[in-house]
Parts: sequence; C-alpha cells; structure tokens
Amino acid sequence: MSGVFITFEGGEGAGKSTQARRLAERLREAGRAVVLTREPGGSAWAERVREALLRDGGRRLDPTDQAILFAAARADHVETLIAPALAAGKVVICDRFFDSTEAYQGSAGASAGLLALLRAIAAGSLRPDLTLILDLPPRVGLERARGREALDGFEAAELHVHEARRRAFLAIAEREPERCVVVDGTLAQDTLAQRIWTLVRERLDGAAAAGGGAPIA
Ligand code: TYD
Repeated sequence: MSGVFITFEGGEGAGKSTQARRLAERLREAGRAVVLTREPGGSAWAERVREALLRDGGRRLDPTDQAILFAAARADHVETLIAPALAAGKVVICDRFFDSTEAYQGSAGASAGLLALLRAIAAGSLRPDLTLILDLPPRVGLERARGREALDGFEAAELHVHEARRRAFLAIAEREPERCVVVDGTLAQDTLAQRIWTLVRERLDGAAAAGGGAPIA
C-alpha cells in the first residue's frame, strides 16, 4: 500500500507550520496514520544539518553550498523517514521540501541545472502528491514572523529577496499545476484550514478514485 505525500511551502510567516499541524490533526481524527515532519530536518542527522545551516553561521555559505547541504539533509530525511512511512501507507505531511531550495537558493543564484540534479539526488522519483503553497505579500509575512520570535538569518534578508522567493514559488505552481495549489495566506487561520481540508479531500479522493485506492478520509 502506498501512502500520500503532502508538502507545505511558502515564505516567512505564511502560517505553514500551523496549517500543517492542523491538517495532521484532522486526518488523524479521520482515522489516517499521519507523519508530520519538516525541513530542514526531520531525521536525526538532518536535524544536525539544520542546526549548522540555521544557527551555526550556515547563512554565510553561498547559495550553491547551501543548496547542497539542504539536499544532503533531504536525502537522509527521505530515506530514513518519508519513504518508509509512504511505503507503510501513511500520510506524510512535510513543512517545506524541495520547492524551498528552488525558491530560496535558486532565487539567490544557485543554478537551475544544479537544483534539478540535487532534486533528483535527494528525492529520486519521489514527488509530493499535493503541494500547498501559502502565498502572501512578504511584508505581511515578515511582520507576522517578527511578532512571533527573533528573525533567523534567512528571515532577516531584505524585502526584495522575499519578493523574489514569492515569484519563484508562484512559478513552480504554474509549471506544475497538477501537483501545486496556491492558497491565500492572508486568510484567517480557521478559513485557511477549512480551505486546505477541502482541497486535500478533493485532490486526493479524486486521485484515489482514479487509481482505485481508498479515499483519504
Ligand atoms: P524555519 O525556522 O523552519 O522557518 P519556516 O517557519 O519559515 O519554515 O527555518 C527554515 C529556513 O530555512 C527558512 O528560512 C527557509 C530556509 N530553507 C531554505 O533556504 N532552503 C531549503 O531548502 C529549506 C528546506 C529551507
């Protein structure tokens, strides 16, 4: 039995983590086995890379070197957690995945060729069944993130950098409409959660019906 892989993407302060948690809770209430995880991190070794990247001066690396480290962490995360959970038929919800590398390191200058190669190395043929891109104007997201806790190095980047990332996420959604859905991140959390639940059911029940599988909930 093969599981369902859902990723959340977007800029800072878009509410991804809250929405990922709420979706996980709702799916569990519906009786599904759910693994909720995040990137960078998600496996023991990848969490150490996370520390190195986010808190240990990793932001001083150039975008290419950052992309390589994010991908190395991702490879371990996929191999030790995501792939086994999917193989066991679980729903895996991941807060950020390879689209973040394209949006963050790609918009900072890492080449498209390298990013495609790293994507193949880290994830092989694995693709999310559904990617929810929480979109909102960077200024709104940054203000929210600031209210929450001190900015990390990536968050402190200037506004035009955040705008470039936003455009990159929207370009991914345009390129892969069968996988990605852009959701309005300025909506109230409850409204957003309901919208995401509807989308998940529509997309994944439809896929299950087409493939003869069981509905998501
Ligand atoms: P995190 O504290 O998890 O923040 P967020 O709530 O925004 O996800 O920090 C993760 C940071 O790492 C975030 O600023 C985005 C960045 N990042 C990349 O630059 N490339 C990547 O491939 C990934 C997964 C994350």
